[in-house]
Amino acid sequence: MAKMWAGRTAGDTSKLADLFNSSIRFDSRMYREDITGSIAHAKMLAHQRIIEEHEASTLCDALEGILTDLDSGALVIDENAEDIHMFVEEVLTARVGDVGKKLHTARSRNDQVALDLRLYLMHRVDEIDDALKTLVLSLCDQAEKHRETILPGYTHLQRAQPIVFGHHLLAYAMMLLRDIDRLNDTKKRMNISPIGCCALAGTTYDTDRRYEATLLGFDDIALNSLDGVSDRDFVVELLADLSILMMHLSRLSEEIILWSSWEFGFIELDDAYTTGSSIMPQKKNSDMAELVRGKTGRVYGDLMGALTMLKGLPLAYNKDMQEDKEGVFDACDTALLSAKIFVGMISTMKVKEENMKAAAQRGFINATDLADYLTKKGMPFRSAYKISGEIVALCIREGYVLETLPLERYRAFSELFESDLYDAIDLSACVNRRTSAGGTSTRSVDQQIATIRETLS
Ligand code: ARG
Repeated sequence: MAKMWAGRTAGDTSKLADLFNSSIRFDSRMYREDITGSIAHAKMLAHQRIIEEHEASTLCDALEGILTDLDSGALVIDENAEDIHMFVEEVLTARVGDVGKKLHTARSRNDQVALDLRLYLMHRVDEIDDALKTLVLSLCDQAEKHRETILPGYTHLQRAQPIVFGHHLLAYAMMLLRDIDRLNDTKKRMNISPIGCCALAGTTYDTDRRYEATLLGFDDIALNSLDGVSDRDFVVELLADLSILMMHLSRLSEEIILWSSWEFGFIELDDAYTTGSSIMPQKKNSDMAELVRGKTGRVYGDLMGALTMLKGLPLAYNKDMQEDKEGVFDACDTALLSAKIFVGMISTMKVKEENMKAAAQRGFINATDLADYLTKKGMPFRSAYKISGEIVALCIREGYVLETLPLERYRAFSELFESDLYDAIDLSACVNRRTSAGGTSTRSVDQQIATIRETLS
């Protein structure tokens, strides 16, 4: 088929080269943005008297019609087209005749594709932002239910100090709030219009780039045409944001997988978010969490792919840049789905408070509080730390926990021990004395929830 760009060349491209060159199977998802961009372009051309008012109306009406038909399925994307830009222009010209050929005045596919991608990704950022906010709120809801549920807090995956489960969940809410912030920050730099940079050098027509950018809702325009067509920082930034987001979801996945095991037994996921085994009838696997953990690697790969694709490119546009799309689309799809799956998984999971409590009662996680008890009675912390360690060793040798070791055994270590020591090492007292800002006390958990809800409202 004769190419719209067949100018210098006379010979036909090979079928295989056409297939290799074509991006329609992945860039057709930007059809809405492509058409929206073209409508604004036609309006700008008329506004600047580069085309007639009535020509612009014909173009805009036909473009609206193409959009409606693509939405309804009346018009089907032609997989043989080279890309979405060519496809829309071909359909337009078929529908309105020669005036369709005027649309591409003072424009190139180089600025057009950069425009479409920015518009499309800003929309995806909004969707991911929405899903993340819903997820943060479901974490807050679970955290509120478990503002007093005690479990061991861990370091090195060893039981360390008692915390409440709500506090643990809110740590993830904080990570996701940063993710939301990062995405919106990236969006600021995405929100710059490249249209009108044309192929690379700008144009001889008296265009109004700011007018066109305003029609499309952009904050500003790219100030250098070479940069405007070849900047893909926003793709890399978005991929970096999504990689960090997936890293957070993957860490939570790992915990969910551990908590669901018989070894921990801290939670049970709803049947809706687990799978069984084809051979072992007793199994209930946390496949959704495992998939999120696994897909995180793919998103990192998408980031590396984009950085590597860009690193050797001379200015301005190079066809390598067509490779910017599949990775970032994949990363957006993956992150959005993962966030949505998490909303369901978190809001329906059953928390086994008794098992958490039982775990908290083993492992001497109140040993720090025992040392603090002595310190508050005047002993230097290092000495108190030493004595508390010796008491733990004694308990392990003789089968006690700190709560059951008799007072006289304590007093053999230090005269400072009195019967109030048992109140000091009571687990919920240990938790609720941690009133320092951002600590695990129920009061602090309540404050965190209130702050998050207020931020998101
Ligand atoms: N399909 C191309 C892409 O995604 C559109 C831009 C093509 N420009 C060009 N000069 N070949 O990058």
